[in-house]
Amino acid sequence: MSDLLLTGIGELTTNIGDPIPHAAVRVTDGMVVYAGPEMDTPEQGGANHIDCQGRAVLPGFVDAHTHLVFGGDRADEFALKMGGAGYQEIAASGGGILSTVRATRTATEEQLFESAARRVRTMIGSGTTTVEIKSGYGLDTATEVLLLRVAKRIGEELPVTVKTTFLGAHTVPPEYSGDRAGYVDLVIEEMLPAIAHLADYCDVFVEEGAFSVAEAGRIFEAAKKHGLAARVHADQLTRSGGAVLAADIGAVSADHLDHATEADAESLGRAGVVAVLVPGASYNLRSSQAPGRMLLDRGVTIALATDCNPGTSYFESMGLVMSLAVVQMGLTPEQAIFAATRGGARSLGLDDRGVIAPGSAGDLVVLDAPVPAHIPYRPATNLIWKTVKEGVVVASQAASFGR
Ligand code: NIG
Ligand code: FE
Repeated sequence: MSDLLLTGIGELTTNIGDPIPHAAVRVTDGMVVYAGPEMDTPEQGGANHIDCQGRAVLPGFVDAHTHLVFGGDRADEFALKMGGAGYQEIAASGGGILSTVRATRTATEEQLFESAARRVRTMIGSGTTTVEIKSGYGLDTATEVLLLRVAKRIGEELPVTVKTTFLGAHTVPPEYSGDRAGYVDLVIEEMLPAIAHLADYCDVFVEEGAFSVAEAGRIFEAAKKHGLAARVHADQLTRSGGAVLAADIGAVSADHLDHATEADAESLGRAGVVAVLVPGASYNLRSSQAPGRMLLDRGVTIALATDCNPGTSYFESMGLVMSLAVVQMGLTPEQAIFAATRGGARSLGLDDRGVIAPGSAGDLVVLDAPVPAHIPYRPATNLIWKTVKEGVVVASQAASFGR
């Protein structure tokens, strides 16, 4: 049995109503049993007690879009891109996603697990308590199964909630170059049945050079029969039609959306599709940020995510993502923090995460700062003093905050 009492909270962000000053939170057996003014805290006996000494507390971060199981890295391509080479140009010459596919196929399960676990430990230390993990660097049935198995092991062996997504339709592998239809058939007929028990969702990269709206439509229809809801890589590099497709099929999320228009936003809003924005990828590709403010103005729920992957966004830090969303996308600090917590949880159907209230999971962070706005304001500092997962402190670092 675990019982944790946090007192001395300078400001508590619950994501339900206004922030609460001078607050306390109690988490018993993984679940929040009290979140409110410290002076009203019920009987305090028995709990493991932490005095937050004026620090801010908010829900743990929900990183709703990552590709964090992969072999190798692409530092060489980063240098080429910064020298002017295009992402699509590098991909067309056999680099890009396919270079990571080569490195992933030659790695062992233990190597893939250990490197992914290192990234996830960094994430946990940076305040992430829930992470979505996609496959997509195997592109053959055995390796896609392996990547999803590794992703699930992360959730079993590390203190983080994991949701898994099958992204077999990330790009066409070399064995099928010249036979796109054959690869789509393989995804539908062989891969989906083999991975269905390991995945919560299915994703398709809808883009020139990857998959068309029609191909994606076929894959999502088949995925639905296996019980997998859709998340869509939509309108990242061009206006590929991914957002319209996501709205049409009732996807749970449309992700990236750098080129989404007002009409796309209206469709997403009407269909209740969450927009998962990944400003790290746009930053790395030196492209313009997704229209976050416009999406919010059209009533679309926004989530923020790292997109952690070796090609476009080798980021573990949700703090940096929130800073980019504020500085480059125009979200307010409050909107960015909500999107990185409650927004991500909504896109993953997790009603008890991204919120601190009686009955919710005890997933929260204690900041080494008095208010959450310090996160986007000070992106180069890891401001997470403690990460709490279901009522247990799972990461801590030395404090520098003083009143
Ligand atoms: O989210 N857009 C597709 N997938 C990744 C990039 C993958 C890669 O370059 O390895 C993304 O940006
Ligand atoms: Fe992505």
